Amino acid sequence: MRTIRVARYDARLVGRSLSWLVRNRETTNFTYDLAGLNRDQLCWFVSAVTGAEIGAVRSWMTELETDQEFHATLTGRLASNPTRRVCASEPHLARRYGWYAIVRALQPDNVVETGTHLGLGSCVIAAALLRNGHGRLTTIDIDADSGHLIDGPWASVIDRRVGSSVDELAKMRDVDMFLHDSLHTYEYETKELTAIEPNLRADAIVLSDNAHDSAALSHWAEQSGRHYLFFKEQPLDHWWPGDGIGVAWAK
Ligand SMILES: C[S@@+](CC[C@H](N)C(=O)[O-])C[C@H]1O[C@@H](n2cnc3c(N)ncnc32)[C@H](O)[C@@H]1O
Repeated sequence: MRTIRVARYDARLVGRSLSWLVRNRETTNFTYDLAGLNRDQLCWFVSAVTGAEIGAVRSWMTELETDQEFHATLTGRLASNPTRRVCASEPHLARRYGWYAIVRALQPDNVVETGTHLGLGSCVIAAALLRNGHGRLTTIDIDADSGHLIDGPWASVIDRRVGSSVDELAKMRDVDMFLHDSLHTYEYETKELTAIEPNLRADAIVLSDNAHDSAALSHWAEQSGRHYLFFKEQPLDHWWPGDGIGVAWAK
């Protein structure tokens, strides 16, 4: 019985892995949707962190899910992307719906993201800022060719910076929301947190896209006297176990 249970579990994982190898072209920064229950857990996570009503959080998630212009434009941009042979053909946002709802809930004026890559997360944050009617995003990447998806109305609220994130973060002022999503090592993430700390507003919220793999944000939260919480993704029909959202915020 024990062997059968393990074999069933492993067979499902092998099936998903083989299906992904045949149908999917991504080599890094994997994208997927969230399992239904996990989407609901994400709504409660955002509600707990921001203090927003659960009904409002659910409506913000639906707002982005049903934004046809957003999904159609990003699908078009993915098709013209120079790295399209190793990318998804449609945007699958998973935990980025959480980023969107956090921006909708907290109404930040000044958001900073490190690690632009194609610009998927940047466009998600920009879409929330546009719905809010105020606020800008600065996104930083060391790769000058990053940001291919940044176009259309979303580009109007995004400032792109090319360079080492640590150097650029030292130049930021009055940041309401910071998202680490660049070089995912404990040491580098800690360097970013140290660089951005003096430039954060007192009530700023700080997110990490590497908290499934590193305790950098939780250690920083403890040292700087902040709350900390982590949301774990459960990808829908995918072999990847999922990333997550680490959040630190003021007490
Ligand atoms: C995981 S991807 C970012 C994903 C993106 N935020 C999204 O939502 O899809 C990581 C990016 O960090 C960039 N990067 C790596 N080291 C960096 C550094 N030292 N400074 C700035 N960007 C860096 C890489 O070029 C890459 O585009």
